[in-house]
Amino acid sequence: MVIYNAKDYNDMSRKAANIISAQIIIKPNCVLGLATGSTPEGTYKQLVEWYKKGDLDFAQVKAVNLDEYKGLSKDNDQSYAYFMRKHLFDNVNIDINNTFIPNGLEADSKKECTRYNEVIKSLGGVDLQLLGIGGNGHIGFNEPGEAFEKETHCVKLTDDTIKANSRFFSSLDLVPKFAYSMGIKSIMQAKSILLVASGKSKAEALYKTIYGEIVPSVPASILQLHNNVTIVADDDALSIIKEKGLL
Ligand code: F6R
Repeated sequence: MVIYNAKDYNDMSRKAANIISAQIIIKPNCVLGLATGSTPEGTYKQLVEWYKKGDLDFAQVKAVNLDEYKGLSKDNDQSYAYFMRKHLFDNVNIDINNTFIPNGLEADSKKECTRYNEVIKSLGGVDLQLLGIGGNGHIGFNEPGEAFEKETHCVKLTDDTIKANSRFFSSLDLVPKFAYSMGIKSIMQAKSILLVASGKSKAEALYKTIYGEIVPSVPASILQLHNNVTIVADDDALSIIKEKGLL
């Protein structure tokens, strides 16, 4: 694992955007695995700025997202499909037909997960997978205890995650209870992985991810076994690691 220490959220976003830009420049028709959530918002903003300046071209890029709430349509403003259009896809020259997100409206979980696994395979796999991390160590919607060998599957969200995500909904009751998510196996098949983390609430999860045991109770700890992982994290997210003198 390569760890880059960013001084704050903006610095983290810029460093992460630089790594994604490099991937697009090296391989203009690359497949990007993308994440939603608060952490990558600044990264997407930076990529949009560079695109608008003429420094980046998304014309041939393909994007495949990690996850989507089950039950939300792509036009619901809390869906991850909506998030991606708002923060990235509508603001750059990516072909929307080259962007893929699980279909939250497909009620048949087995059918949707099989379809999504096929989509990832037909794209030839993911070149660079962007990940955020939950305070409990989740990646995608792979919650603690999830088996490492799963591909896309339907997840029952934990109370912690429902609570954390409720900040985007007008009431706790409106937060979906299930999601479609790439599994740990799908994530581990990406050729390279970029994990971004910001803030003290991620410090413990990040410490366990990098230095702890590889255990399903900390889903992100499996990343220790991947041979091309880059972590960009700010001072707060690295605080425990730094306190322990490990960085
Ligand atoms: C989102 C995703 C989640 C988030 C994680 C952190 O697509 O897969 O695993 O990356 O919940 O979310 P934030 O960045 O909002 O703290």
